[in-house]
Amino acid sequence: PSGLDELAGLVADGDVLVLSGAGLSTDSGIPDYRGATGSLRRHTPMTWQTFCRDPRGRHRYWARSFVGWPQMAAARPNAGHSAVARLQRAGLLGGVITQNVDGLHQAAGARDVLELHGGLDRTVCLSCGDVAPRAELHRRLRAANPDFGPRADEVNPDGDAELPEEVLDGFVMVDCRACGAGPLKPDVVFFGETVPRERVDTCFRMLEDSAGLLVLGSSLTVMSGYRFVLRAAELGIPVGVVNLGPTRGDARADVRVDAPLGDVLPELARRCGA
Ligand code: OAD
Repeated sequence: PSGLDELAGLVADGDVLVLSGAGLSTDSGIPDYRGATGSLRRHTPMTWQTFCRDPRGRHRYWARSFVGWPQMAAARPNAGHSAVARLQRAGLLGGVITQNVDGLHQAAGARDVLELHGGLDRTVCLSCGDVAPRAELHRRLRAANPDFGPRADEVNPDGDAELPEEVLDGFVMVDCRACGAGPLKPDVVFFGETVPRERVDTCFRMLEDSAGLLVLGSSLTVMSGYRFVLRAAELGIPVGVVNLGPTRGDARADVRVDAPLGDVLPELARRCGA
C-alpha cells in the first residue's frame, strides 16, 4: 500500500512509540467503536455517570458483561499484534500506549504496554480499592447465576454483550471479596470518565523519550489518545498513522497509510528484518 516505504523510514532508526486503538483488534473478532461496522452504531456504551449513580444501570452492565466476558477472554492476538511485538524485540518500536482494554498486546508478547483506558482482566472495588482478577469474579458470578444462560451473538469492545431487557433482571451480582460491599467496577475508564493524571504524565514522558509516534487503528476521535499526536507535533516528533479510513490526526501526520493493519504490520516487520 502507498506510504509503506515512508513508514519503514519512520521506524528505521528505532525507539518509535506506538499508540494503538480498537482497529488493531478487529482481526481478533472484537469490533471497533467508530469504524465501518463499529459498535457505537448499534450499542450505547456504559457511561461513568450511569455506573456511579444508577444501581440498576450498573446491575445491567454486569449482566451484559458476565455474558460477554467468555468471548473477550477467548480472543487471541492477531498478526498485527505479533508484528508489533517482533518490531519491539528488534528495537524499532519502543513502548506501547494502548487505548484497548483487551490485553492482546501483552498476550502477543509486547513489553512496556501502558493501558491508557485500563484492562478488563481485573476489577476494582469502589469502596475498599481491592483489585481482583476478573477470572475470579467470573467464577463467583457463575456460582451465583447457575441458570442465567443467555447467549450473545457479539461482544462489544468494552467486553459487554447486547441482551434483551427482560432477561437482565434475573442476573445476581456479587459483592467485593475483600470488604463484602462494593460496588465492583471493571478496571477500565468508561465513557465520560477521565484518565488518571499520573497515567497521562507517564505517557507524555514515554513520548518525550521517543523518536517517533506510530498510531495504529485509532480514529483519534477521543482526546485521551489524540492529545499525544498534538504533543508529538509540538515537540517536532514525526507521526505515522496506519488506519482504514480518516482520523483526526491525519493533518498532523508525516506518514499516512490507509490499509488493513493485518497486511501493513507484518509487511513492515518483514521489510525491517524483524
Ligand atoms: P475507533 O473505533 O474510534 O477507531 C478505530 C479505527 O480503526 C477506525 O477508524 C477504523 O476504520 C479503523 N480500523 C478498523 N479495523 C482496522 C484494520 N483491520 N486495519 C486498519 N484500521 C482499522 O477506536 P479508538 O480510536 O481506539 O475509550 O477509540 C478510542 C476510544 O474511544 C476507546 O478507547 C474508548 C472509546 O471511547 C473509552 O472507552 C474510554
